[in-house]
Amino acid sequence: MKRYRSVLITGANGGIGSAFARLLAPFMESMLITGRNLQALQKLAGEIKSPVSNNIHIEIADLTKQEDVNQLAVLAGEKKIDLFINNAGFGHFNHFLATSTKETIDMLQVNVLAATQLLHVLLPGMIERATAGKRAGVICVASMAGFMPLPYFSAYAASKNYLHALVLGLQQELCQQPIDLLSLCPGLVETAFIAKANMPRKLLKWAANPEVIAQTAMQKLGKHHQYTYGFGNQVAIMAGHLLPPEMKRKLLYYYCKKWLLPKNST
Ligand SMILES: NC(=O)c1ccc[n+]([C@@H]2O[C@H](COP(=O)([O-])OP(=O)(O)OC[C@H]3O[C@@H](n4cnc5c(N)ncnc54)[C@H](OP(=O)(O)O)[C@@H]3O)[C@@H](O)[C@H]2O)c1
Repeated sequence: MKRYRSVLITGANGGIGSAFARLLAPFMESMLITGRNLQALQKLAGEIKSPVSNNIHIEIADLTKQEDVNQLAVLAGEKKIDLFINNAGFGHFNHFLATSTKETIDMLQVNVLAATQLLHVLLPGMIERATAGKRAGVICVASMAGFMPLPYFSAYAASKNYLHALVLGLQQELCQQPIDLLSLCPGLVETAFIAKANMPRKLLKWAANPEVIAQTAMQKLGKHHQYTYGFGNQVAIMAGHLLPPEMKRKLLYYYCKKWLLPKNST
């Protein structure tokens, strides 16, 4: 972690994003933390401020808004970030047609377009600065959902599939450059994500701790290109690769409909 001096974390006001912020703060000369909730970000900045990490910049940005993404990209360039944690994201667990077009487009705007734009704008500067003897790093928080077509979470799973494929493709394209990329693909994590997605609260008992997710991700950066926390999750992914695609879709459909879809969904 001491490799990096300046970090940008999107979606820092809660969950996995704030876990990264807490973990990295003791090592960073400068932090750019962003989200939509000013109060939560100020509280976080107060908690993590230390003599080492006293240069914490809060930027309020709604990543569904193009002008906010543009402004964030400019600011991150000025801060000369060498570690980018692309973490902001959300999804709605429901019938595709019961989710409004706006909600779906907003989700793609955050999970796909803002992530792509920030990578596109930030990578050249990160690589250029890193050639001075240091490596830069990127962690994109995708999801285990990105490995499979997921009924009732179809657009979200597709957005995470995009992000995962983008990171792995870029990692190969940039393999001669001094930059490490990691596609972080968590299973369930104990954050507000589950309630916001309208998924049942009972899932929380199988959810991983966000601090552990952030910690293991930082350990994997530079050593692996993709990482899913938890033996059970890793076995599930492997089993998923072995099943015939149609059988996999049917099993997931049954599981999602019976166990995850709210009973009042039409
Ligand atoms: N928790 C899980 O089970 C799980 C599993 C796999 C992957 N993930 C991924 O992990 C990442 C972090 O999620 P989390 O679990 O930590 O949940 P979370 O606590 O809800 O964090 C998501 C973050 O994204 C931000 N965000 C959402 N919409 C935004 C927008 N329009 N503009 C700017 N920021 C926005 C949220 O800000 P607001 O608070 O303002 O909405 C929040 O800070 C997400 O990409 C999620 O898809 C989560």
